[in-house]
Amino acid sequence: MSNPLDDSNSKPFEIAQQAAALIAEKSGVAQHDIALTLGSGWAKAADLIGETVSAIDATEIPGFSAPVVEGHVATIRSIALSNGKHALVLGARTHFYEGHGVRRVVHGVRTAAATGAKTMILTNGAGGLKPSWQPGTPVLISDHINLTATSPVEGANFVDLTDLYSQRLRDLARTVDAQLDEGVYAQFRGPHYETPAEVQMVKHMGGHLVGMSTALEAIAAREAGMEVLGFSLMTNLAAGIQDHPLSHAEVLEAGRAAESRISALLAQIVAKL
Ligand code: HPA
Repeated sequence: MSNPLDDSNSKPFEIAQQAAALIAEKSGVAQHDIALTLGSGWAKAADLIGETVSAIDATEIPGFSAPVVEGHVATIRSIALSNGKHALVLGARTHFYEGHGVRRVVHGVRTAAATGAKTMILTNGAGGLKPSWQPGTPVLISDHINLTATSPVEGANFVDLTDLYSQRLRDLARTVDAQLDEGVYAQFRGPHYETPAEVQMVKHMGGHLVGMSTALEAIAAREAGMEVLGFSLMTNLAAGIQDHPLSHAEVLEAGRAAESRISALLAQIVAKL
């Protein structure tokens, strides 16, 4: 099925506007306040943050495509929070490694902004570089290193990324759990995991987490004027730091084991936004 974002003459912000208008129509919610992308291990948060008003098949919305990864769901949910706010949950992340280009990767974030959301919560599963982190540890993202060699920003728009992962929102998260650690997330293209040498490179560059998402989405969120909260679930020690090979099954299992705990944590944070 063709995707309008694949046409290089198409206008990604217009397609995001169209997507947002259809979400408003299908959900009956004119405006959303908060948006969440729930990555590996975080999906249960959608059931905990409030009452689902509407669950929309993402493939019916312009610009979205079906996810390729087991454990990711192609549903966009509109959720009513008990404080009267509305959250949009994007279960349909498109990864850069799928090779469909960066416009598709950030379309969910741009659509969320077009629905009115001012806060973007980006979550993922990631490898960790700190040996003190156990698989299942949630880590706040304090900053990122973009190793994809691309940007979602088109044209000469010099977006400031100084406080990309909002200090205010990290502080707020710590009012729920004072023990939350934080780290710098390095986004690789993937889909292969990193080599041990690449993990050491990240360590020397000041990174603490490695993964295949989030940085490009965070840039697009900031470009759209949103405040960003980033969370990694540390599912494994990164390649060469743990003593056995990495496997997707191990990553999924760590996600499953931590899911209830970290989803409840995220729901408590969302309630405070
Ligand atoms: N590397 C990249 N992505 C990941 C990892 C990792 O070690 N674990 C979960 N996602």
